[in-house]
Amino acid sequence: MSKVTVIGAGNVGATCANVLVFNKIADTVVMLDVKQGVAEGKAIDMLQTAQTLGFETNLIGVTNDYAATADSDVIVVTSGIPRKPGMTREELIGTNANIVKSVVSQCLAYSPDAVFVIISNPMDTMTYLTLKATGLPKNKVIGMGGALDSSRFKYYLSQALKANPAEVEGLVIGGHGDTTMIPLKRLATYNGTPVSGLLDTAALDKVVADTMVGGATLTGLLGTSAWYAPGAAGAYVVASIVNNYRRLIPSCVYLEGEYGQSDICIGVPAIIGRNGVEAIVDVKLNDEEKALFEKSADAVRKTNEVLKEIGAL
Ligand code: LAC
Repeated sequence: MSKVTVIGAGNVGATCANVLVFNKIADTVVMLDVKQGVAEGKAIDMLQTAQTLGFETNLIGVTNDYAATADSDVIVVTSGIPRKPGMTREELIGTNANIVKSVVSQCLAYSPDAVFVIISNPMDTMTYLTLKATGLPKNKVIGMGGALDSSRFKYYLSQALKANPAEVEGLVIGGHGDTTMIPLKRLATYNGTPVSGLLDTAALDKVVADTMVGGATLTGLLGTSAWYAPGAAGAYVVASIVNNYRRLIPSCVYLEGEYGQSDICIGVPAIIGRNGVEAIVDVKLNDEEKALFEKSADAVRKTNEVLKEIGAL
């Protein structure tokens, strides 16, 4: 039996909940939102697809009723405002930090054993804030960005290769920011074949550049941030936890010396299972990748410093 709570029934949270129920990932899914009636309404709307789509998951929507989230195995945090066209994720920190901090402490009071999956932006900093503000063990707090950024990398690779997306593999590490993420082009493969031998340098560099601004491109088109891929990526991480799939997912996790970094949450390949972060996988980076990772960590750390300036930590 597994119970998953999704905090925030906006576009990303509701999509995540929808994927969780449709794919029967959890036995019970609770959606909680601050806006009166929104989570309830979206839950009823989704439940009215149960017969046509064929699922029997128990789904409830509540307005700010944290007692309903009690004893969750996993809590997905999507709270806060999304970015508007032209904004960076980092600019959301002033609004989102205190919302995320308050949400996670209320959740923890009812679900002390839960694993937290953080989606709210700026994601790396919100993951760090969750870890530091709650004092949870480092395996219990996972930021979702790498799962999403890697799915965007694979999408752009499959477009460039004119390939079946299911046969493309690629990892994105580093921060979840337009200039901080690092699509590892050297290691990407098409059905076991390195893509570096299949695409020329210009084409591969374009895939990398498109991936890095993948979220911003959609924000420009939609007028708000994307939700289908972010919601699905959140559910992908949740599935690996509740089913102990031990998927290798680039995830924002707390580092204590791994990849040459400490006291930071940033994206690295990790095994995600029942205990949350089961292990960090040490992919050997070359000098260029190492330099990019260091630069990315510096930028994430700079955003983390704002937490102190605004009194969130
Ligand atoms: C994105 C937001 C959700 O990348 O961070 O679309």
